[in-house]
Amino acid sequence: MKVIVTGAASGIGKEVSDYLSSETYEVIRVDVQEKFGAKQLDVTDEAAWSQLFGEVGPVQGLVNCAGIRTRGTILETSMAVFEQHLKVNVTGTWLGIKGLFNSHEVGSEASIVNISSVNALIAVPEQAHYVASKGAISALTKAAAIEGAQMGIRVNAIGPGAIRTPMTAERLNDPEQISWLEGRIPAGRVGEPNEIASVAKFLLSAESSYITGTTIFADGGWTSNGV
Ligand code: NAI
Repeated sequence: MKVIVTGAASGIGKEVSDYLSSETYEVIRVDVQEKFGAKQLDVTDEAAWSQLFGEVGPVQGLVNCAGIRTRGTILETSMAVFEQHLKVNVTGTWLGIKGLFNSHEVGSEASIVNISSVNALIAVPEQAHYVASKGAISALTKAAAIEGAQMGIRVNAIGPGAIRTPMTAERLNDPEQISWLEGRIPAGRVGEPNEIASVAKFLLSAESSYITGTTIFADGGWTSNGV
């Protein structure tokens, strides 16, 4: 099974790529950074997506892990920063979905996994631009699923909680932040990238054949916690 993974040069995308490779998937790694075997691709560049699908498509799987996140209140955040989050996180995901739909072979099956966040359900302060982009990814996942179903394509998302990656390194090295998180996460700890990779593999595989349009939260119970 041939799978494209975006954001493959770091964190969750790298772990998903390594895990799928070890499970005999043929993984095409892409990222803006050419590291860890990732080919250069900016997910916001429609022409680059067309070129990629022209070279490797059709594919049976796509995991949209590329993403950005900065901190800042609404008052501190410029329109450019807000729009950049929507562009990379939402438009980048939409372009990947569109590329797979466009190159899909009639009569075959495929599965797309988007990376949303707990922030699609619960907000945290100083990240309105990021929170908005993640809500959009979960909504886009539902819309793409109902179109994809007619083509044999399932579309789901994973909503990770706090996962230890370069994106969260600064926050997770701060003892105050760790104790704030541990107080909210029933499992009592942050997650590791491999705990997202295994969910991605499940959603790509036939083991999840009747699941489409959903966001699976892998968050140690964070979004279920009302206290
Ligand atoms: P990361 O910063 O370690 O990796 C993100 C990767 O995306 C980087 O390799 C970066 O170069 C790439 N990227 C950024 N802009 C790109 C573009 N325009 N085109 C192609 N690649 C681009 O971050 P991490 O933690 O691995 O995040 C992966 C995804 O998981 C993101 O969508 C993030 O929002 C999401 N997520 C992460 C959580 C966490 O706690 N780490 C929690 C919830 C969601």
